[in-house]
Amino acid sequence: MENIQQYVEANKDRFLEELIELLKIPSISADSTKNEEVKKAGNYIKEQLLKSGADTAELIETKGHPIVYGEKMIDGNLPTILVYGHYDVQPPDPLDLWDSPPFEPVIKDGKIFARGACDDKGQMYMHIKAFELMMKNNSLPCNVKFMIEGEEEVGSDNLGDFVKENKEKLKSDVIIISDTSMIANDTPSITTGLRGLSYVEVEVIGPNRDLHSGTFGGAVPNPIQILCEMISKCKDDDNHITIPGFYDDVEVISDEERAEMAKAPFDEEAYKKDLQIGDVHGEKGYSSNERTSIRPTFELNGIWGGYIGEGAKTVLPSKANAKISMRLVPHQSSEKITELFTKHFMSLAPPSVKVKVTPHHGGEPAVTPTDFTAYQAAKKAMAESFGKEPIPVRAGGSIPIVALFEEVLGLKSVLMGFGLDSDDIHSPNEHYGIFNFLKGIETIPLFYKYYTEMSK
Ligand code: BES
Ligand code: MN
Ligand code: MN
Repeated sequence: MENIQQYVEANKDRFLEELIELLKIPSISADSTKNEEVKKAGNYIKEQLLKSGADTAELIETKGHPIVYGEKMIDGNLPTILVYGHYDVQPPDPLDLWDSPPFEPVIKDGKIFARGACDDKGQMYMHIKAFELMMKNNSLPCNVKFMIEGEEEVGSDNLGDFVKENKEKLKSDVIIISDTSMIANDTPSITTGLRGLSYVEVEVIGPNRDLHSGTFGGAVPNPIQILCEMISKCKDDDNHITIPGFYDDVEVISDEERAEMAKAPFDEEAYKKDLQIGDVHGEKGYSSNERTSIRPTFELNGIWGGYIGEGAKTVLPSKANAKISMRLVPHQSSEKITELFTKHFMSLAPPSVKVKVTPHHGGEPAVTPTDFTAYQAAKKAMAESFGKEPIPVRAGGSIPIVALFEEVLGLKSVLMGFGLDSDDIHSPNEHYGIFNFLKGIETIPLFYKYYTEMSK
């Protein structure tokens, strides 16, 4: 531990400078005008892996954005850890809400502000620097493979194919990922579950063209009104989702387990204050923590139609649209939920309109047991670096590839994230604490050490 802290202390400025270089590259996977930038970020990581001591590192082209793959094999008899992360980022919009430009990183109040600072460039880069540290300190205790992708934020479609086609290359014993958050800097936690996702776009079509709202209004279906009515029928007064069969496969959590989960500290007043909301809102009978972890959701992500420009325009629009995401919990299937939604939504439409449902990328939920070696090793590592035992918690977000890793490679993942829910990932002013960045670099070598020891 002392050696680790010394190395981090002596090199932290350079670690941050290198991260800043990476954060300057606008690797927005959803924006095809940024394809070259995405590739540039991939190349940067490849180079950094080589500089940090990898035997090999390559940029592997896919139908979409490239995958960075690198490895350091020291002994076939020792365990192999596979590190997964992503170097693509979410679009930075809306730009005017940023206090400083998203791709011009600044350090303020002990935090680094930039798109991707936490999700996931900052967290992923901790692994490369922890690897460098182990190489320089001569303390790498096992083999390591890195697979860093450029399409996580758009559904990891091509990574799925890559994993299926490269089982031998990826052969390892466990996967480690830092792409989640912990409770607080003085309350470390390890993520033990991720929600799945069904994402759909809907369109309600009324008259074949926009109409004068006086001449036609009153006699013609207004698609915005009808869309809103259809959406509001998807939940009842208890905020229970009304799609028939939606809850059929939901994992039932015992009262004991719920009581155990309720021990995780949560300050509802501070939560409301931070978000400036009058009250929390959600499914009756569940706590805020349960609503964002063990329960599925139905959430509107965008809704549009008609005239939204300056002033007033009296129009009865032809179409209305919405984007809807449903977060799923263990045993629910993304494909099945998308089907159930589609059937239900279609059935809600009055005969006066046409409805189209277009499914987008989805993903399956995942859970990690707490009684397996790698979780125990992560727990021991965090307990040592934080001086406090981490608490297991389920996250509300999704990393769809995790379920696929288990399905295709038969490998469990350890979700040892160092971010905070307050880091504003996907939002303006995304940031990552320097404390968290350095703590991650300190903790990861301990994970390697304990995992290797405990695997013997
Ligand atoms: N790193 C996040 C997921 C996450 C964040 C999990 C915080 C737990 C805590 C990841 O990059 C992400 O944003 N995933 C997307 C899904 C993807 C298919 C676009 C999500 O959760 O919306
Ligand atoms: Mn992420
Ligand atoms: Mn993300």
